[in-house]
Amino acid sequence: MRVWADDARRAGRRIGFVPTMGFLHEGHLTLVREARSRCDACVVSIFVNPLQFGPGEDLDRYPRDEQGDKAKLEAEGVEVLYSPTGDSMYGAGFQTAVSVTEVTKGLCGAGRPGHFDGVTTVVAKLFNAVRPDEAVFGEKDYQQLATIRRLVVDLDLGIAIVGVPIVREADGLAMSSRNAYLSEDEREAALALSRSLSEARRALRSGERETAVLIDRVRAVLATEPLLQVEYTEIVDADSIQPVDRIDKSARLALAVHVGNTRLIDNTLLAAA
Ligand code: PAJ
Repeated sequence: MRVWADDARRAGRRIGFVPTMGFLHEGHLTLVREARSRCDACVVSIFVNPLQFGPGEDLDRYPRDEQGDKAKLEAEGVEVLYSPTGDSMYGAGFQTAVSVTEVTKGLCGAGRPGHFDGVTTVVAKLFNAVRPDEAVFGEKDYQQLATIRRLVVDLDLGIAIVGVPIVREADGLAMSSRNAYLSEDEREAALALSRSLSEARRALRSGERETAVLIDRVRAVLATEPLLQVEYTEIVDADSIQPVDRIDKSARLALAVHVGNTRLIDNTLLAAA
């Protein structure tokens, strides 16, 4: 990977990079198209990173489709698919972690201890292999995007981080590799996530700025589906990911919900008028 990237850079080509864990869907492919439109060469990585899964999470059953992914990337005109093995990423004696401390505390960081250290460590390693000019991430994982932005500034990595809006199914469900786990009933119930975000945006448009009230509206929508178990619903500052009491400047409403054995996340911008 390093040799190819060094050659491409020497030839004056700007490298765009999209890190993924595979089982690619339209959300991932939208990131790929963004990278392709911004740069001369596009690298996509597929690596199901054991470091970012906690005990009891879905590392062992995370969906995979190497052949399908490869065909999709070829159809998009991606030049390089980088899929390192676990051993080459974390050899014997591996003991280093990259940690972003504050942005990672709330939301998913609270419920998944160690998760973001796993993400920042692997992304730092992937960045070192590819040394891209730009890297593209989805707003679907909003806290992850904010964490990577911090990482790149704090470690002077000199990589432009590009955020892409959430890509949804026609009925509003945010695309996710984990949607493959859902039964028909669970998938139907999961539509309440995006409905609850729309409800909050509607309430904000009609003048409601109190976080507590907006959260109540969100929870009321989620409560209409008995299959859902809420992990968190929070409204946070878009950059610091700290909770806010009122929508005075643009904020992010984020939620995590369990549907059976599947954990789903979603979020939306709450734009101050
Ligand atoms: P993964 O879940 O495969 O997601 C790869 C990228 O696709 C992330 O930037 C994610 O935000 C984006 N993405 C996923 N679903 C999306 C959607 N519906 N709309 C827009 N973007 C979407 O995120 C990871 O992998 C890993 O944590 C990784 C960064 C690769 C580190 O291991």
